Amino acid sequence: MNNKNQTILFVDDEENVLNSLRRLLYDEPWNLFFADSGSKGLEILKKEKVDLVISDVRMPVMDGLTFLKQVKKIYPHIVRIFLSGYADRTAIVTALSEGCAQQLLPKPWDDDELKGVIRDALLQAEELKKKNIGLQKIINSLSTLSATPQTYLEIKKCFSHKNTLSIESLAEIIEQDASVSAELLRWSNSALFGQMYKVDTVERALMILGIDIVEGLVLSNSIFSSISSGSRVLTGFNLKDFQTHSLSCGILAKLLIARISHEEPKNVDRAFTAGLLHDMGKLVEEGHLTENFRKIIDTARQKKTLLLEAEYDVLETTHEEIGRHLAEWWSMPSFLVNAIRWHHNPHLCKIDIDIVSAVHVANVLVQRFELGASGNFRIPQANQESFELFELSEEELPALKESVIYYLS
Ligand SMILES: [Fe+2]
Ligand SMILES: [Fe+2]
Repeated sequence: MNNKNQTILFVDDEENVLNSLRRLLYDEPWNLFFADSGSKGLEILKKEKVDLVISDVRMPVMDGLTFLKQVKKIYPHIVRIFLSGYADRTAIVTALSEGCAQQLLPKPWDDDELKGVIRDALLQAEELKKKNIGLQKIINSLSTLSATPQTYLEIKKCFSHKNTLSIESLAEIIEQDASVSAELLRWSNSALFGQMYKVDTVERALMILGIDIVEGLVLSNSIFSSISSGSRVLTGFNLKDFQTHSLSCGILAKLLIARISHEEPKNVDRAFTAGLLHDMGKLVEEGHLTENFRKIIDTARQKKTLLLEAEYDVLETTHEEIGRHLAEWWSMPSFLVNAIRWHHNPHLCKIDIDIVSAVHVANVLVQRFELGASGNFRIPQANQESFELFELSEEELPALKESVIYYLS
């Protein structure tokens, strides 16, 4: 259902484009604002509560990418769409990979398609608005989390010099961190990555695992050691079981996405990483919002609801949005931000759909398989569309469970 209070801002330097949009949407139940430059768009955002921004890519003075970057930084809850009339690959790829835009609309557009995309984006905005109320209240109490973990920071720096990226220098950084090195060696020797020979150096492990897996393992290691309490035992939430839940979800997400024949190999690795980190917001709650987390668990237990619903009651936000906040703060790649943000609502996510859906289905199935524990007292339902994406039948599930157990050991 569209809400009459929802507001859209269109930014385009071509007056005739803005006029066509005005004509097309005048009887739709939305408040519309139009700006012919990025700076005028920012002025409107200062005064109005906007839910969705749709911006042209090429504009004089402030281009669309710079404008959307500003919007993302100042108003992260606003949904952002790029309207592109050019094959402007560089700006589009940057906008999507840095999460500046969550979707693209072609120019010229198909009227029905444009309205459909806007309706979906406003549903997304509604969901984010709900979660944002509580998030704003707790952001300050999360300030101790602002430091990006050192090893992650250093490998990010190394990745940013892609042309001169050397495995030796990356290995040198990772070798400084004993627990990350051990984790990399463990996984590079795992059957999950098909290794037949023993891997005993970090350098070799890096070559086998590749950048996406290494990034995920470094992050998950840092998060478990720096965000969670590490030892505190809360009734109803056991960190070791939670770690098994995360690992199982990563393994299963990888197995699921590998079933899609057209899938790019890099997405198979990315699904593993995304599964590993999908619930990182829960670790923030456990380690830094402990009293509230205790209440969340108690509420979920008493009302027999999902943790997610109890989070709304107690925090007015969820582990997805808390995780997203941290993921963006730490400049994680957009596929991770999307998987963390939308793993319970994959239908609201418009990019990285296969990865987000794999994590969504894996998260539900590992709870059905009773592999580890996510903190839920009830098993969530999988979105039917996501389930069908992997062509899964009920008969196959026992074998799938056995595979996850095999790779876990
Ligand atoms: Fe979750
Ligand atoms: Fe989960």
